[in-house]
Order: sequence, then C-alpha cells, then structure tokens
Amino acid sequence: MSETPYEAGPLWLCQADELDEIAEGRARGFDPRQIGQDSVFVVRHAGRLHAWRNACPHIDGAPMAWRKDAYTNAAGTHIVCSAHGAQFEPATGHCVRGPCLGQSLTAIEMDIRSDGSVWLRTH
Ligand code: FES
Repeated sequence: MSETPYEAGPLWLCQADELDEIAEGRARGFDPRQIGQDSVFVVRHAGRLHAWRNACPHIDGAPMAWRKDAYTNAAGTHIVCSAHGAQFEPATGHCVRGPCLGQSLTAIEMDIRSDGSVWLRTH
C-alpha cells in the first residue's frame, strides 16, 4: 500500500470537542494527512482516549475498519480488524486474539492545546 511519507512536526487532527463525541468503547477515524482515507483512529476506553495508526500489523498497512469509524467490537471492549478478525486491547494496542497475536498497533501521541486544538506529536 503506498502512503504519503510521514512529515516531521505536529500535525493538526481536530478540535477537542470532536473527541468529546466519541462514546466509551467506540472510535473515530481521521484523515489528518488528507490522503482520502482515515490513517489514524482515536478510541475511548475506560474514559481515556488512545490514538492508533489505522494499520493492522497482520498485513502491513492494511486499514482496519469495514466502514467509517467501525474499529471496535459490539461490546466495545476491543479494537477489531475487519479483514481477519484480530482483536487488540484499546489501551495498549496489543493483539490478544487472531493472526497477529503478540504484535501491536502503532501508538500516536496526541497533544490537546489550550485553544482546544488537537495535534499529533507522532504520526
Ligand atoms: S489484516 Fe488485520 S487481521 Fe489480517
């Protein structure tokens, strides 16, 4: 899968109120590099937000959702890759079931600034 190279420096993600709309156990995808598909998703788990690259470790770079924002299982307990069903812990990104057992998603650091803007520190 070809991708635009990652750029150095912070990358604007969204306004913080968009993250407030993410319910517990649910996620939202973002396209901060404006490549026409969501390259990052943010999941809320135990009240905390975690950002991950939308790239399954099973097949390098494979997008994970089968439709917009569909990154978690019905119960909201795990992140699920729609391709082959790998399940990941939302807080750690570790694969706990499926073909990439023991591998992990790639974490992305977020910075929420005082003006309410959300930036990606690593992306
Ligand atoms: S590509 Fe994600 S489980 Fe196979």
